[in-house]
Amino acid sequence: MTTRRNVLLAGASALLTTGCKARSSPALPPLKSLVPFPLGTCVMAAQCDDPEWSALATRHFSRLTPEWEMKMEYMLRDDGSLRFDRPDAIVDFATRHGLTVHGHTLIWYAQSNPYFEKLSGDKFLNAYVAYINDVMGHYRGRLPSWDVVNEPITDEGSELRDCLWSRALGREDYIGIALTAAHEADPGAVLFVNDYNLEHAPKKRATFLRLCENLLKNGAPLHGVGSQTHLIADIAPGMIKACIRDLASLGLNLHISEIDISIRESHAGLNGEKAQIRALDELVDAYQQVPAAQRYGMTFWGVRDGDSWRNRQDGLHIPDAPLLFDDQGRAKPLAEAFAAAVRA
Ligand code: G3I
Repeated sequence: MTTRRNVLLAGASALLTTGCKARSSPALPPLKSLVPFPLGTCVMAAQCDDPEWSALATRHFSRLTPEWEMKMEYMLRDDGSLRFDRPDAIVDFATRHGLTVHGHTLIWYAQSNPYFEKLSGDKFLNAYVAYINDVMGHYRGRLPSWDVVNEPITDEGSELRDCLWSRALGREDYIGIALTAAHEADPGAVLFVNDYNLEHAPKKRATFLRLCENLLKNGAPLHGVGSQTHLIADIAPGMIKACIRDLASLGLNLHISEIDISIRESHAGLNGEKAQIRALDELVDAYQQVPAAQRYGMTFWGVRDGDSWRNRQDGLHIPDAPLLFDDQGRAKPLAEAFAAAVRA
């Protein structure tokens, strides 16, 4: 059966087979105008001063997630003091352009700091709560949501990570403590726990779901879950849909929080872009089936391929093409496919 979705997607995919070079596509309407939920991208302060990036980001997206400058690695100095210059520049840019900002991220296993590493016991706990309170307090009322804890589950997927925070406060307790502190710091903020590979790794997803259910059972103010969705283009059909379905079953806000679709990491070869389009179509179709009240939004982890973290990794010399726009800011067939999929 030829559905409208298939016809639309065939058109986008045809851009590939005709060898039609991605072009500046005035026909591409603002992508955020095509979806009934916020559409976001990540951002670095320097990009706010890049006219091409700024034009694309403000035309197509309604929400920004600071890519790294609202994390401990940038804001927290070794003496415990904080600097907000670059995250403030991002929030000011968003405010000027009518975009919202999703706070990312307060507590992450991958980031500690000498300031915390020299503390223990109540001093550690007090500093932990104070950090959350000071950062969220600085943005109280200006940031509607936060990734309070990022990536709590191990890559192997069967347990919670061991990290500075878990060793000091308890394997799961550090997460509940962070959520409670965040809620007290800004009672109006929507609070998320965010993780990756939840589609590629069903065992990890199951452990993540159990964590969320335990947090809710213990009364933690968990309001949403973020599924980062850093996809490999040739992901097996159905895996994305199963992930979205399982995460939506929590009944919480569901943020598809860091979308990129790697061709380089796939085995799709010359069919990389078609595999990418197929994966994005499955993601959009699955997300459209989530109850509207739970659709917190979709966020791409970058605007142009050249902006992607995947093209900044040391030692990787084969460029990747994981995003909607090419290095010249032109809409790729993937962007056309996204526009077609959300309209279908
Ligand atoms: O811009 C500075 C540059 O001036 C300096 O010379 C250089 C060396 O110190 O650092 C540069 O900043 C780096 C920044 O990326 C921009 O490239 C930071 O050191 C580096 O830590 C930062 O990495 C970010 C990483 O998270 C760690 O914060 C990536 O951009 C960002 O894409 C990545 O995003 C994560 C999400 O937060 C969580 N999910 C996975 C995702 C990808 O790893």
